[in-house]
Amino acid sequence: MSQTIEPLKSALADNARFLRSWMENPRGVGAVSPSGPALARAMASYVDLSREGPVVELGPGTGPVTQALLERGVPASRLLLVEYETSFCDLLRQRFPGVEVVQGDAYSLKQTLGGKLEGPIAAVVSSLPLLNQPESDRLRLLDQAFEMMAPGGVLIQFTYGLFSPMPLKRHPGGSAFSSEVSRVWANIPPARVWRYSRRAG
Ligand SMILES: C[S@@+](CC[C@H](N)C(=O)[O-])C[C@H]1O[C@@H](n2cnc3c(N)ncnc32)[C@H](O)[C@@H]1O
Repeated sequence: MSQTIEPLKSALADNARFLRSWMENPRGVGAVSPSGPALARAMASYVDLSREGPVVELGPGTGPVTQALLERGVPASRLLLVEYETSFCDLLRQRFPGVEVVQGDAYSLKQTLGGKLEGPIAAVVSSLPLLNQPESDRLRLLDQAFEMMAPGGVLIQFTYGLFSPMPLKRHPGGSAFSSEVSRVWANIPPARVWRYSRRAG
């Protein structure tokens, strides 16, 4: 019995924690509850496991995407989480031993990750509520992520919006990037997962 009750209690506790953080900082947290497992699995599925290097997760919150990344086979030692809410950082450290949690601002990614990366990044997996942020900040994040990314790396981002949360058309170098999108219907509300990569050459 406790095998079925414990996960339910933990999910309810995460929902309560999330809602509390959202009430304190609605724009920063950006959602009233954590992402569902189907969305988390979809995000993780776009990480190419054959690529070497760190996998950086932005805005892990209570950790549903982190969990999916680990279940997909990303080793804990290659995962770096960037989260700015202290209570989420404490929870993530307790929940995912062996995963490095960096407390800081993802929009100043180079500074936040300064000295913490062992080699170029293989993939960035982001749940940041980008649409609450000015376009210039989002594009600055895109540029920083790809400066630290190995060739062929990918930035994976989910959104509840209809359009690309990275406004590539407003980026002076936007044509250097390509994007793909897919829908995740099995999430409430349904979401879109965008993948951004830098064209070769
Ligand atoms: C929509 S929630 C997603 C949480 C979790 N990944 C999920 O899918 O349930 C956004 C997360 O981004 C974090 N966040 C927002 N702005 C941030 C920033 N500038 N730097 C780091 N984390 C940030 C929030 O604290 C929150 O945990």
